Amino acid sequence: MVDRLLITGGRRLAGQIAVGGAKNSALKVMAASLLAEGQTGIRNVPNIADTRTMAEVLGRLGAGVERRDGSLTIDASGPLGLETPYELVRRMRASILVLGPMLARTGRARVAMPGGCNIGRRKIDLHIRGLERMGAQFSYDHGYLVAEAASRLQGAVVSLDFPSVGATENIMMAAVSAVGTTVIENAAREPELQDLADFLVAMGARIEGVGTPTIEIVGVDSFTPTVHPVIPDRIEAGTFALAACVTRGDVSLRGARADHLDLVLAKLEEAGASISVEEAGVRVAMDRRPSAVDLVTLPYPGFPTDLQPPIMALLATAEGTSIITENVFESRFMFVDELNRMGADIRTEGHHAVVRGVDRLSSAPVRALDLRAGAALILAALGADGVTEIADIGHVDRGYEDIDSKLSALGAEVSRQPSFQPAFSP
Ligand code: UD1
Repeated sequence: MVDRLLITGGRRLAGQIAVGGAKNSALKVMAASLLAEGQTGIRNVPNIADTRTMAEVLGRLGAGVERRDGSLTIDASGPLGLETPYELVRRMRASILVLGPMLARTGRARVAMPGGCNIGRRKIDLHIRGLERMGAQFSYDHGYLVAEAASRLQGAVVSLDFPSVGATENIMMAAVSAVGTTVIENAAREPELQDLADFLVAMGARIEGVGTPTIEIVGVDSFTPTVHPVIPDRIEAGTFALAACVTRGDVSLRGARADHLDLVLAKLEEAGASISVEEAGVRVAMDRRPSAVDLVTLPYPGFPTDLQPPIMALLATAEGTSIITENVFESRFMFVDELNRMGADIRTEGHHAVVRGVDRLSSAPVRALDLRAGAALILAALGADGVTEIADIGHVDRGYEDIDSKLSALGAEVSRQPSFQPAFSP
């Protein structure tokens, strides 16, 4: 059953929240734990639908996964299976990140092909080409991608057409046990990739250059299980920073890493927010209508595409016109129609959006089309007149832990309703 969220707009958010572990880091660290024969500990893992799906993926592959509070213990000491089924890949595309570690550890993998996705085609050609250069062979079988390596993978120079986060990660996780040296050129530089590399290095991998466009990996023979704390989620932090701004509030984001949010915080300041970087995190306050701001999404350290929908919700009520350019995903403006149903004045042309600020948004029944589009609608609702009903909130639960209680703790009026209620109770 897919829940809906009811949000009464106009409540000012104030106080503090603890930023959880990064979804996009936890998922990769979980996949990489397949490399070590033994028990890996991962701390600060958000309890969200996506990490639960990854736990199922690992379970299907033969690993034992236990959760206690915010920590996971993954036992990959036994023999591993082969197949990641469509039912799991369809639920979460990041399931394909087991390809690299499975190839490295067992020399084979069978992963369902991810289908279409509502933020663009999201191909995996760069993952495949990179792994092929290292000696893996791919074939397709009834909707499955079958990967095999006749012998141990070989180090290679892999030059990516685009600094894809997932492709860099899959290739890195395969290269750590290849024979010889792998060089990834035009690599992604996201902080979550750095976190994954830190984890791999703690297990015994030899990796250099992460955070620059050229990563060099020297393959090793074996890995020792380790315990790793996941970095704080910069996208969750950014979303709550925006929520503070939308409601003219004052929110402290405990644990947020300002160094991972450079451009986001700069854009918020440009819009009129006051930002203080404190020892415990980042404090964001806003006491006036935002000013219009132009921005362009780009791979890190550019403005993150995952915060493009949420910041659009803020700029929808800015003074003036903002131009937003989306360069990472081809169709990440589909949620704009939903914002316009709430009274926003946004027009899109290809990968540009022209956001003419209106005084105030008004509540309307809307639907979360994907994770970050759902976050954008929540922000819009927090600042709107009246009660907004957001359907399909399950998308948001994929990436935000306890978003209702975190918002409520800050003073928002939020409640959750199952979508299909019986018409009457006897
Ligand atoms: C990851 C994040 C996602 C974030 C994105 C960009 C996870 C689980 N998800 O997604 O939240 O929005 O990074 O920061 O970490 N591409 C290709 N061929 C490929 C791979 C990618 O053409 O083989 C294209 C995609 O279609 C997309 C662009 O490259 O247009 C970026 O994708 P990528 O960086 O790979 O994002 P993900 O790893 O899927």
